[in-house]
Amino acid sequence: MSYNLLKGKKGIIFGALDEKSIAWKVAMRAKEEGAEFVLTNAPIAMRMGEINKLAEHCNAQIIPADATSVEDLENLFTKAQEILGSKIDFVLHSIGSSPNIRKGKAYGDLNYDWFQKTLDISALSFHKVMHVAEKQDAMNEWGSIVALSYIAAQRVFPDYTDMSHAKAILESIARNYGYRFGKLKNVRVNTISQSPTKTTAGTGVGGFDAFYDYADKMSPLGNASAEDCANYAITLFSDLTRMVTMQNLMHDGGFSYMGVSEDIVDMISK
Ligand SMILES: NC(=O)c1ccc[n+]([C@@H]2O[C@H](COP(=O)([O-])OP(=O)(O)OC[C@H]3O[C@@H](n4cnc5c(N)ncnc54)[C@H](O)[C@@H]3O)[C@@H](O)[C@H]2O)c1
Repeated sequence: MSYNLLKGKKGIIFGALDEKSIAWKVAMRAKEEGAEFVLTNAPIAMRMGEINKLAEHCNAQIIPADATSVEDLENLFTKAQEILGSKIDFVLHSIGSSPNIRKGKAYGDLNYDWFQKTLDISALSFHKVMHVAEKQDAMNEWGSIVALSYIAAQRVFPDYTDMSHAKAILESIARNYGYRFGKLKNVRVNTISQSPTKTTAGTGVGGFDAFYDYADKMSPLGNASAEDCANYAITLFSDLTRMVTMQNLMHDGGFSYMGVSEDIVDMISK
């Protein structure tokens, strides 16, 4: 169902890899709500070609950009404004990758070059995106910028290894750039801390199925799906949330405030 919440708004959506991606669902909902946007992903991720289907469906153009490259981001923001014919109202940063997790390195055995890569891709890229948007004066007044985070920024999830540090930095960047962009252009910056979700990045984390089930049983509302997450992101891009900024917003069915649930007690007592 459409409420025309994003009618006339122009955006950039990072991170749609395949139809399971959170960014994919956000793009579909943004289209339904009347937005126009460009899609972007790392050139290497585009080789799969899945994003072309989404672009066709959304009548959106694709501009490749490695989010760790300031040069690629400059090209992206320049071209996006040309294509959309105006400045940008919303940006979704839905990017995460850890070579250490991909290669199964335990927390006590991290490869530090890969650790830096994790931080660059999953956290510093968020700063670079906003840096380029600021330098090009690419954001409209009262625009909205959202990135995706996970509760491992605050709590320990052993298999999340270096990504937990990336998420802590990501959330800190949202606060600090949120202050700066608020003062500069009334632009708000937030992170959504999402439930475990069955996507390529999510299922790549060791023990994913167990902590997916655990979170589902702990949360009174169960895990939030990628579609739920997209709905929430749309509200943050809409004019209904203009005074929300610098926040890490829990979108987790209640998980973050739970101590223990009856379902978990029942499971352990068996
Ligand atoms: N899936 C989960 O359980 C979960 C939970 C909380 C938060 N998140 C976060 O949601 C976001 C989206 O992940 P997802 O779950 O949709 O998985 P996904 O694998 O579909 O998306 C991750 C995206 O990051 C992109 N990416 C990687 N390196 C890049 C680079 N250098 N430049 C540009 N893009 C790059 C990938 O191509 C991919 O499109 C990530 O920040 C992730 O950490 C996921």
